[in-house]
Amino acid sequence: MTTLDIAIELASKGDVSASPPPFVVALGGTLSPNSTTEKALKTSLEGAAAGGAETLLVSGPELELPIYAWERKERTPAALHLVESLRRADGVIIGSPGYHGSISGLIKNALDYAEDMSKDEWPYLHGRPVGAITTGAGWQGAVTTLTALRGIVHALRGWNTPLGVAINTAQPVFDADGNCLDEKIDTMLRDMGREVAESARVRALMRGSKSDQAAAKDEG
Ligand SMILES: Cc1cc2nc3c(=O)[nH]c(=O)nc-3n(C[C@H](O)[C@H](O)[C@H](O)COP(=O)(O)O)c2cc1C
Repeated sequence: MTTLDIAIELASKGDVSASPPPFVVALGGTLSPNSTTEKALKTSLEGAAAGGAETLLVSGPELELPIYAWERKERTPAALHLVESLRRADGVIIGSPGYHGSISGLIKNALDYAEDMSKDEWPYLHGRPVGAITTGAGWQGAVTTLTALRGIVHALRGWNTPLGVAINTAQPVFDADGNCLDEKIDTMLRDMGREVAESARVRALMRGSKSDQAAAKDEG
């Protein structure tokens, strides 16, 4: 039975409204708290929350992790927090600045930690919708980076949302409080967050059904 079959079966039983809210994790930014990329992620997470999701931001400073090495088994508390958050995630939003034509080393290294999920029941980003946000000091850098990030999401078995958001930061895009100054970008970020939350319901529904089954087994 495929994931979709199970979701359709659950939905047809009318279990949808009883499903837990989808959990959407946004990760990214830079080491500077409140970078443009982080402000964009926060805006998109507001869209996810408006779509009914519980949300968590794992921001740039929390992603300063040792270079990923699968053969080393020790993990820092920040690395464990990242992997556990991704494990729980029903949907993900990733934001990176464009550095020299691709995503930054900080974000690539953080995503390499998904290797620790390779043996999970839901390996890597399997079954999760993933929204991508990139910034650049021009359109070329932002768009090239968006394509690179969506390729990485694909490699991690995530489902890229139809909408991705590339932001040209040559002109100010957010004010100091994180309010987006460009109505179109604001709408795109919120729409993408909502899109992630809505698609994430499939996994949340399956998660809910599994815990119901486990509880029924315990009672039986
Ligand atoms: C090391 C480095 C490399 C960069 N490379 C590019 C690039 O290749 N193309 C581009 O458009 N912008 C490039 N930029 C600019 C950043 O992508 C841009 O300033 C970004 O929007 C900053 O977002 P932030 O406010 O989240 O840091 C680079 C910046 C740095 C620090």
